Amino acid sequence: MPHRMRLLEADLTSLDVDSIVNAANETLLGGGGVDGAIHRAAGPALLDECRTLGGCPTGEAKMTGGHKLNARHVIHTVGPVWNGGGDGEDDLLRGCYRNSMTLAAEAGLRTIAFPAISTGVYRFPIPRATRIAVAAVAEALAAYPLFESVIFCCFGADVTNAYRETLAEYR
Ligand code: APR
Repeated sequence: MPHRMRLLEADLTSLDVDSIVNAANETLLGGGGVDGAIHRAAGPALLDECRTLGGCPTGEAKMTGGHKLNARHVIHTVGPVWNGGGDGEDDLLRGCYRNSMTLAAEAGLRTIAFPAISTGVYRFPIPRATRIAVAAVAEALAAYPLFESVIFCCFGADVTNAYRETLAEYR
Protein backbone atom coordinates (compact mmCIF):
# COMPACT_ATOMS: atom_id res chain seq x y z
CA MET A 1 0.00 0.00 0.00
CA PRO A 2 1.47 3.41 -0.91
CA HIS A 3 2.33 5.39 2.19
CA ARG A 4 0.04 8.35 1.34
CA MET A 5 2.64 10.93 2.48
CA ARG A 6 3.33 13.78 0.05
CA LEU A 7 6.05 16.41 -0.11
CA LEU A 8 5.11 19.88 -1.41
CA GLU A 9 7.09 23.11 -1.46
CA ALA A 10 4.36 25.73 -1.04
CA ASP A 11 2.74 28.35 1.16
CA LEU A 12 0.71 26.31 3.65
CA THR A 13 -2.03 28.97 3.75
CA SER A 14 -2.81 28.37 0.06
CA LEU A 15 -3.57 24.65 0.31
CA ASP A 16 -7.07 23.31 -0.36
CA VAL A 17 -7.14 20.50 2.21
CA ASP A 18 -9.50 19.45 5.00
CA SER A 19 -7.07 20.92 7.54
CA ILE A 20 -3.77 22.69 7.69
CA VAL A 21 -1.72 22.50 10.88
CA ASN A 22 -0.48 25.65 12.56
CA ALA A 23 2.87 25.78 14.39
CA ALA A 24 1.48 27.91 17.19
CA ASN A 25 2.56 28.96 20.68
CA GLU A 26 0.82 28.07 23.95
CA THR A 27 -1.34 31.21 23.95
CA LEU A 28 -2.85 30.34 20.53
CA LEU A 29 -3.12 34.09 20.03
CA GLY A 30 -0.93 34.33 16.92
CA GLY A 31 2.72 35.09 16.31
CA GLY A 32 5.19 35.26 13.46
CA GLY A 33 6.27 32.57 10.99
CA VAL A 34 3.61 30.21 9.72
CA ASP A 35 1.37 31.19 12.67
CA GLY A 36 1.36 34.80 11.49
CA ALA A 37 0.80 33.78 7.86
CA ILE A 38 -2.19 31.62 8.82
CA HIS A 39 -3.83 34.34 10.89
CA ARG A 40 -3.29 36.91 8.13
CA ALA A 41 -4.86 34.61 5.53
CA ALA A 42 -7.70 33.36 7.75
CA GLY A 43 -8.75 36.80 8.95
CA PRO A 44 -9.58 38.12 12.45
CA ALA A 45 -12.38 35.61 13.04
CA LEU A 46 -9.71 32.92 13.50
CA LEU A 47 -8.21 34.84 16.41
CA ASP A 48 -11.69 35.34 17.87
CA GLU A 49 -12.22 31.57 17.79
CA CYS A 50 -8.74 30.90 19.19
CA ARG A 51 -9.52 33.16 22.13
CA THR A 52 -12.26 30.73 23.18
CA LEU A 53 -9.81 27.80 23.38
CA GLY A 54 -7.89 28.86 26.48
CA GLY A 55 -4.45 28.16 25.02
CA CYS A 56 -2.77 24.80 24.30
CA PRO A 57 0.06 23.00 26.14
CA THR A 58 3.22 22.16 24.19
CA GLY A 59 2.87 18.83 22.36
CA GLU A 60 -0.92 19.02 22.25
CA ALA A 61 -3.34 20.17 19.52
CA LYS A 62 -6.71 21.95 19.22
CA MET A 63 -8.90 22.47 16.12
CA THR A 64 -10.73 25.53 14.78
CA GLY A 65 -12.53 26.40 11.57
CA GLY A 66 -10.56 27.58 8.54
CA HIS A 67 -12.43 30.88 8.20
CA LYS A 68 -11.12 32.67 5.05
CA LEU A 69 -8.53 29.96 4.31
CA ASN A 70 -9.06 27.39 1.54
CA ALA A 71 -8.64 24.74 4.24
CA ARG A 72 -11.83 23.84 6.09
CA HIS A 73 -10.08 23.59 9.45
CA VAL A 74 -6.90 24.63 11.25
CA ILE A 75 -5.33 22.29 13.79
CA HIS A 76 -3.20 24.40 16.12
CA THR A 77 -0.35 22.51 17.74
CA VAL A 78 2.48 23.81 19.88
CA GLY A 79 5.94 22.47 19.17
CA PRO A 80 8.80 22.42 21.68
CA VAL A 81 11.51 25.05 21.71
CA TRP A 82 14.83 23.26 21.00
CA ASN A 83 16.92 23.33 24.15
CA GLY A 84 19.69 20.87 23.25
CA GLY A 85 17.57 17.71 23.18
CA GLY A 86 17.69 16.82 26.86
CA ASP A 87 14.30 18.29 27.80
CA GLY A 88 12.03 15.76 26.12
CA GLU A 89 11.85 17.82 22.93
CA ASP A 90 11.66 14.72 20.71
CA ASP A 91 8.65 13.31 22.58
CA LEU A 92 6.87 16.67 22.59
CA LEU A 93 7.37 17.13 18.85
CA ARG A 94 6.19 13.55 18.23
CA GLY A 95 3.12 14.44 20.28
CA CYS A 96 2.36 17.39 18.00
CA TYR A 97 2.11 15.09 14.98
CA ARG A 98 0.33 12.24 16.79
CA ASN A 99 -2.25 14.49 18.45
CA SER A 100 -2.91 16.44 15.25
CA MET A 101 -3.45 13.20 13.30
CA THR A 102 -5.75 11.84 16.02
CA LEU A 103 -7.82 15.04 16.07
CA ALA A 104 -8.12 14.95 12.27
CA ALA A 105 -9.04 11.25 12.22
CA GLU A 106 -11.66 11.69 14.93
CA ALA A 107 -13.17 14.56 12.91
CA GLY A 108 -13.29 12.31 9.84
CA LEU A 109 -10.88 14.46 7.85
CA ARG A 110 -9.21 12.90 4.80
CA THR A 111 -6.45 15.37 3.84
CA ILE A 112 -4.14 17.33 6.15
CA ALA A 113 -1.04 19.46 5.58
CA PHE A 114 1.74 20.06 8.10
CA PRO A 115 4.47 22.72 8.20
CA ALA A 116 7.86 21.71 9.60
CA ILE A 117 6.82 22.29 13.21
CA SER A 118 9.44 23.80 15.56
CA THR A 119 12.13 24.14 12.86
CA GLY A 120 11.84 27.91 12.54
CA VAL A 121 11.75 30.26 15.53
CA TYR A 122 11.91 27.24 17.85
CA ARG A 123 15.21 26.14 16.27
CA PHE A 124 14.63 22.35 16.32
CA PRO A 125 17.29 20.71 14.09
CA ILE A 126 15.67 20.06 10.71
CA PRO A 127 16.88 16.48 9.97
CA ARG A 128 15.93 15.32 13.47
CA ALA A 129 12.53 17.03 13.32
CA THR A 130 11.83 15.58 9.88
CA ARG A 131 12.55 12.02 11.01
CA ILE A 132 10.23 12.44 14.01
CA ALA A 133 7.48 13.93 11.82
CA VAL A 134 7.56 11.24 9.12
CA ALA A 135 7.73 8.35 11.59
CA ALA A 136 4.81 9.69 13.64
CA VAL A 137 2.65 10.37 10.57
CA ALA A 138 3.45 6.98 9.02
CA GLU A 139 2.41 5.31 12.28
CA ALA A 140 -0.85 7.31 12.40
CA LEU A 141 -1.67 6.55 8.77
CA ALA A 142 -1.32 2.82 9.51
CA ALA A 143 -3.78 3.26 12.38
CA TYR A 144 -6.24 5.39 10.39
CA PRO A 145 -6.83 3.86 6.93
CA LEU A 146 -9.47 6.49 6.04
CA PHE A 147 -6.86 9.23 5.50
CA GLU A 148 -6.29 9.91 1.80
CA SER A 149 -3.05 11.87 2.15
CA VAL A 150 -0.81 13.86 4.45
CA ILE A 151 1.17 16.71 2.91
CA PHE A 152 4.47 17.87 4.36
CA CYS A 153 4.35 21.48 3.19
CA CYS A 154 7.90 22.81 3.07
CA PHE A 155 9.23 26.35 2.90
CA GLY A 156 12.79 26.52 1.62
CA ALA A 157 15.29 24.03 0.24
CA ASP A 158 16.76 22.85 3.55
CA VAL A 159 13.44 21.55 4.85
CA THR A 160 12.38 20.23 1.46
CA ASN A 161 15.62 18.28 1.03
CA ALA A 162 15.40 16.85 4.54
CA TYR A 163 11.85 15.62 3.92
CA ARG A 164 12.78 14.22 0.51
CA GLU A 165 15.62 12.20 2.06
CA THR A 166 13.52 10.94 4.97
CA LEU A 167 10.52 10.05 2.81
CA ALA A 168 12.80 8.10 0.47
CA GLU A 169 13.25 5.60 3.32
CA TYR A 170 9.49 4.88 3.28
CA ARG A 171 8.08 2.75 0.49
N1 APR B 1 3.97 27.96 4.68
C1 APR B 1 4.66 26.84 5.02
N2 APR B 1 5.67 26.83 5.90
C2 APR B 1 6.01 28.02 6.45
C3 APR B 1 5.34 29.24 6.15
C4 APR B 1 4.27 29.16 5.22
N3 APR B 1 3.57 30.25 4.86
N4 APR B 1 5.92 30.24 6.88
C5 APR B 1 6.92 29.67 7.59
N5 APR B 1 6.99 28.35 7.33
C6 APR B 1 7.91 27.34 7.86
C7 APR B 1 9.24 27.84 8.39
O1 APR B 1 10.15 28.06 7.32
C8 APR B 1 9.64 26.63 9.24
O2 APR B 1 10.21 25.64 8.42
O3 APR B 1 7.29 26.75 8.98
C9 APR B 1 8.29 26.12 9.77
C10 APR B 1 8.04 26.45 11.25
O4 APR B 1 8.61 27.72 11.54
P1 APR B 1 7.86 28.78 12.50
O5 APR B 1 6.66 29.31 11.80
O6 APR B 1 8.90 29.74 12.98
O7 APR B 1 7.33 27.89 13.71
P2 APR B 1 8.11 27.27 14.97
O8 APR B 1 9.55 27.08 14.70
O9 APR B 1 7.28 26.08 15.35
O10 APR B 1 7.98 28.41 16.07
C11 APR B 1 6.71 28.67 16.59
O11 APR B 1 6.87 31.00 16.15
O12 APR B 1 5.41 32.18 14.87
C12 APR B 1 5.73 31.87 16.16
O13 APR B 1 3.63 31.94 17.30
C13 APR B 1 4.64 31.08 16.83
O14 APR B 1 5.65 31.27 18.98
C14 APR B 1 5.41 30.38 17.90
C15 APR B 1 6.73 30.05 17.20
